[in-house]
Amino acid sequence: MKHTEALLKAEKFQQKMEKIAQNDYWRPQYHIAAPANWINDPNGFCFYKGEYHLFYQYHPYSSQWGPMHWGHVASKDLADWEHRPIALAPTDEYDKDGCFSGSAIEKDGNLYLLYTGHVDLDNSNGGNDRIETQCLAVSHDGLCFDKVENNPVIKSLPENLNIKTEHFRDPKVWKHGDWYYTVVGVQTKEKSGQVVVYKSQDLINWEFLNIMATSSVKENLGFMWECPNFAEVNGHEALILSPQGVKPEGNKFLNLHQSGYFLGKMDYQTGIFHRDSKFDLLDYGFDFYAPQIMQDEKNNRCLMIAWLDMWESNMPEQENHWAGMMSIPRVLEVKDNMIYSKPIEELSKLYKLKIHHEQVIDDVISFDDVNGDCYKLDIDFDLKNAQGFALKLRVSATEETVISYDKDTKKFKLNRDKSGCGVNGEREVYIEPVGEKMNLQIFSDRSSLEIFINDGQHVLSSRIYPSKEAKGIVFIPNGNIKTNVDFYEI
Ligand code: FRU
Repeated sequence: MKHTEALLKAEKFQQKMEKIAQNDYWRPQYHIAAPANWINDPNGFCFYKGEYHLFYQYHPYSSQWGPMHWGHVASKDLADWEHRPIALAPTDEYDKDGCFSGSAIEKDGNLYLLYTGHVDLDNSNGGNDRIETQCLAVSHDGLCFDKVENNPVIKSLPENLNIKTEHFRDPKVWKHGDWYYTVVGVQTKEKSGQVVVYKSQDLINWEFLNIMATSSVKENLGFMWECPNFAEVNGHEALILSPQGVKPEGNKFLNLHQSGYFLGKMDYQTGIFHRDSKFDLLDYGFDFYAPQIMQDEKNNRCLMIAWLDMWESNMPEQENHWAGMMSIPRVLEVKDNMIYSKPIEELSKLYKLKIHHEQVIDDVISFDDVNGDCYKLDIDFDLKNAQGFALKLRVSATEETVISYDKDTKKFKLNRDKSGCGVNGEREVYIEPVGEKMNLQIFSDRSSLEIFINDGQHVLSSRIYPSKEAKGIVFIPNGNIKTNVDFYEI
């Protein structure tokens, strides 16, 4: 089938399903999700012709993962997003089993998408043989995308290096000087994660530069580094990765796969990124994967959006003909040798201050006017005379999602044991209080929570599936806590 025909067919099918999916209570009210059916990674996050664009891995035909298309949304302000026609469909020999993840860049007024063409080989013997190559599509208007004739533009990997060739995906392109560079995720022959870098002057002809960063099996950094990003973050450089298969270390790395970063320095002569920090997570919650960054040159900042889900997790919304959503856009900032992620300020146009409370709490309390399912809750806790606190969100007679902090253990916890349908468990992160104070910014949507601690020093993001009755918010102090509560309705 021709590309345009395949796109129209998918679009029609999606419209049919949309009506059913939209009726689901769990549909996000202010996060990006597809009109219907399955999504995963954010792709092609960019600014083009006056608008921010975001694409995503999309299976328009069912709420399960399947042959990947690229869905598309655009926004003038990163707060209100509009759906655009599906951008890519897997119709060609080199991408017939999926247009996998990739990125976008403007060149000479056109918008280019660099993505992975995925082809499954005969796997009737139970194997997992595949060919992955890097492919290019171009648009003159940011709406219709044509695959270029020269595809695949990156066909192969050098054979004489320690690189396994069948996992070769998720190109993230950027410009430095006169050259375009792309980092691509691969594996070592011993099956540990690494990334390679190519360079080009025209986006069509690419030259292998080097193995940009690698890991050994001894390091517990996973067997494959998916969705690599090179990021410039307020004067620092970072390599952002989504390693598959990192093993739990105590209560860290409990998710099936992780997303995190190394700080370091890119040497453009050799093509080597020199790591100079430990791998740290970008988010400590249950559901955060495959983040993609964009350098927002207009505002001189580095933005990030991630898939707010995790592979192989329960997704009860699948029964209602959709699956998956994106995180809110976040701004990255390096402070004290760590990446902070903060909610972008533009979101403030979506919310209105409903109530402000300033109060010392020394007993369990819930405020009549502080409850709901779509909100931003901004709380300052002064813990000088307290041991810690618990805060229950999305509370009904039988449901609650509990966050808590204890000064002795310094553990900040998120517990989903009673968060509704199909989810459970606990995640935690160590927090050093700033003085005796702690700030939380909590973004709640119908089936998600994103909790930013101390101005984005740490974040915990998770899907939850409470009933629509679960709207209570309960404060449980352990001691006397001076609190400042701003409750915004969204
Ligand atoms: C990451 C990932 C990518 C791949 C895509 C396929 O979540 O596995 O490596 O390109 O999803 O949908």
